[in-house]
Amino acid sequence: MDLHMSTHFDFLDFFAGSGLVTEGLKDRFHAVWANDICALKTKVYRANHPKDQFLQGSIEVVEGESLPHATLAWASFPCQDLSLAGKLQGIGASRSGLVWHWLRVLREMPEKPPILVAENVVGLVSNKGGEHYRALHASLTNLGYMVGAIVLDAACWVPQSRPRVFVIAAKKGADLEGFTDREPSWLHPRSVLGAASGLKDFLWWRMPPPPPRKSNLCDLIDFKAPYDDEEKARKNIALIPDRHLRKLTGARRFLKVAAGYRRTRSGRQVLELRFDGLAGCLRTPEGGSSRQYVVIPRDDRIDTRLLTVREAARLMGAPESYRLPGVTDSFRLDGSYNEGYKAMGDAVAAPVARYLSENLLAPLAGRLDRNKSIYAA
Ligand SMILES: C[S@@+](CC[C@H](N)C(=O)[O-])C[C@H]1O[C@@H](n2cnc3c(N)ncnc32)[C@H](O)[C@@H]1O
Repeated sequence: MDLHMSTHFDFLDFFAGSGLVTEGLKDRFHAVWANDICALKTKVYRANHPKDQFLQGSIEVVEGESLPHATLAWASFPCQDLSLAGKLQGIGASRSGLVWHWLRVLREMPEKPPILVAENVVGLVSNKGGEHYRALHASLTNLGYMVGAIVLDAACWVPQSRPRVFVIAAKKGADLEGFTDREPSWLHPRSVLGAASGLKDFLWWRMPPPPPRKSNLCDLIDFKAPYDDEEKARKNIALIPDRHLRKLTGARRFLKVAAGYRRTRSGRQVLELRFDGLAGCLRTPEGGSSRQYVVIPRDDRIDTRLLTVREAARLMGAPESYRLPGVTDSFRLDGSYNEGYKAMGDAVAAPVARYLSENLLAPLAGRLDRNKSIYAA
């Protein structure tokens, strides 16, 4: 396998949001162009990556002819129509369907990037027996790429359960020896196998499994942050399901913290707890109804509070210096708690992007970049 560890490659960050893909890739890929429609995310991206060229606006008006040359194009396209939290309207619906604009933009580029990544929720491969994935696979194949999908859970790197699909494509004609296997591996859970079934040209990408994760939820909690007052805590505790409350009080001697997720179940608000040292998947709920909590069992009481924005950023693997609204440290940006939470909720966990970059994308870019004719293909 080719390892040109010191080289930087150029990349295009579509749906760049708060910039955690740019952050995760930055040791090996330089974002020569990034785009997002959201004003808040634009502010966060620009504050953290001030030198990068960022275009605020809809992908619907981006013209491929105007984009800079790049080795990689990455698209973390909107997940609302593929996520269980949404109405599952599919990859043709208005928000997740923006991925088709990404393909249009790529088609318009005189020299298409030899490597592509499209990232989304697992629903992309699991919903409707893999139909959404197969539609994307076919379109990428028609565009001149070889394609396969993998699932990586951010929980391998940070204490947050966040499985995500990464559809990775390389230009036809590329030498992929050493980058793919003949059969599935740890990267291909059942959802991927289902989506790939019947696709003779599916690529089984290869990467080494990461070493065990080093941190747990309690390692990134600010135990000195202010907790809710008695009245608010009492209201929160009343929302905890009985069996979770029994487990929490039973474990108070050795459990430092439980992650709580406040959501609506069967029309009722509940505060569900996790005891596995992980937080549930961060989201940006429309309407602000679901929220992540920190719940701490003490000898004489239970403390509760919302997860801070800095804690949410740590769960996404953002560095401590990442500038965000709604934080209390010196790296704050103007703005509210909700804005900070929203900026992190639908991001890509940076260590996942970094691992993918170091173990597959950059070595592959090193090989393909030497074959200049691959750009024109
Ligand atoms: C899954 S998030 C991407 C997260 C980002 N990669 C990060 O790590 O922060 C999807 C992004 O698509 C953006 N988006 C939604 N509609 C868009 C449009 N029409 N054009 C461009 N971006 C859009 C959203 O603002 C959101 O930031």
